[in-house]
Amino acid sequence: MAPSSTPVSLPALPDGFLPALKRIVGDRGLLTKAEGILPHVTEQRGRFVGATACVVKPGTTGEVAQVIKLCQDHDIAIVPQGGNTGLVSAGIAFAEDRAIILNLSRMNKVRNLDPLNNTMTVEAGCILQNIQEAAAKADRFFPLSLGSEGSCQIGGNIASNAGGINVIRYGNTRALVLGLEVVTADGEIWDGLRSLRKDNTGYDLKQLFIGSEGTLGVITAAVLKLFPAMKERSTAFIGLRQLDDAPPLLGLAQSLIGEALNSFELIPRIALDFALKHGQDITDPLGQPYDWYILLEASAGTPQANLPLLFESFLEQALEAGLIHDAALAQNTAQADSFWRLRENITLCQKAEGGSIKHDIAVPLSAIPAFISKANAAVESYLPGIRPYPFGHIGDGNIHYNLSQPPGMDINDYLAHWDRLNRIVHDIVVDMGGSISAEHGIGRVKLEENLHYKSPLEIRMMQQIKQSLDPKNLMNPGKLLPVSPRS
Ligand code: MLT
Ligand code: ZN
Repeated sequence: MAPSSTPVSLPALPDGFLPALKRIVGDRGLLTKAEGILPHVTEQRGRFVGATACVVKPGTTGEVAQVIKLCQDHDIAIVPQGGNTGLVSAGIAFAEDRAIILNLSRMNKVRNLDPLNNTMTVEAGCILQNIQEAAAKADRFFPLSLGSEGSCQIGGNIASNAGGINVIRYGNTRALVLGLEVVTADGEIWDGLRSLRKDNTGYDLKQLFIGSEGTLGVITAAVLKLFPAMKERSTAFIGLRQLDDAPPLLGLAQSLIGEALNSFELIPRIALDFALKHGQDITDPLGQPYDWYILLEASAGTPQANLPLLFESFLEQALEAGLIHDAALAQNTAQADSFWRLRENITLCQKAEGGSIKHDIAVPLSAIPAFISKANAAVESYLPGIRPYPFGHIGDGNIHYNLSQPPGMDINDYLAHWDRLNRIVHDIVVDMGGSISAEHGIGRVKLEENLHYKSPLEIRMMQQIKQSLDPKNLMNPGKLLPVSPRS
């Protein structure tokens, strides 16, 4: 069930609380006026607008700790927030939360980069793209990459265990973090900033905080894994014969290109059409209409890897095996970038066609074609004229199964079907052994759906962890887990 959409309001704070906050963070670290607060309580698509009395922006880990202690003393809840680019409203305070927002954007320093250890220690408010660029300057590569990388912050990426376009090779954010610094719900600072690949000394506590969506503590810094810089990349835009051929095509690519393969993305014809119609500087790489496309990329740290030859041989064999109709192999960086521009415009250009009801699902990769065909049949029979828009990280078994509204329908009439359509799609996903949230998380938006499908035992264990680390339930209450325990 979606959160209520409320205007900015100012829940009363205890006397003396705001002056005490100001003493910790100074004038520039505190927003209390509605116009300053509004962007922090508006989620990026503008669908939900929350409410908070203030946004606090600490500049150091010590300040974060003091803010949390103050909140503990006054029983004020805290919503940690990064770049506010999330898709499940995990970083927004809603009126009923009676929470303040703790925004990490001022904590944006790279504390250390060790090229020999292949690690980088960064503060939570560092913008992802700045981290990628700092790594590149040191002739290293940080592989996390997603559409919002120009504004999302690494703390949010870690708290939501972000995915993106390189997961097939490097894993989710979870796999890219070696250590964390966290301010606990009690306001203590846990220095877990270890730069070790081996540390077998007990529970891997950092993994609890990764993907916890700010419900257990505030991530203030992290040690990230770096990789050799990529010297060569090959990118192809492929027209599939049929969707069923996508899994065997990936299998062939993995056999012939091996671990150099980093992206394998599905694009349906409808997304290419919307991008050509509404996007800027978008061209059709193949010029011929096909129902399904794959954007595939491989890269190598050394030019000797002979990647272009491997890549061409893969495309030849895919053609011979009848798995693909056609392929455009990027001849230069500009052309590769234009393929990716098309991919990155998919969500934006769908917006221009009216309401979109979103799903971020995973099923076993081999089951993706069956999932799409079952889900299409179900939603089309429920709402004739609806336009399925399945795209994304098929190489990870992760599809953004978005649904565009029937042309001409009133957008609010369409969005009224949100919960019912979610249930139709998610029933199919769960029936196929899948997940209702592959990479975007749960936040507030998917809370009810997650409770519906996850086993009571799993929810209970999560609640026990939450209870032991945040007994007063002040850390991002009502996200990921319900406010009061389920009976
Ligand atoms: C993407 O892969 O483009 C995003 O995760 C999906 C989205 O923005 O809806
Ligand atoms: Zn995605």
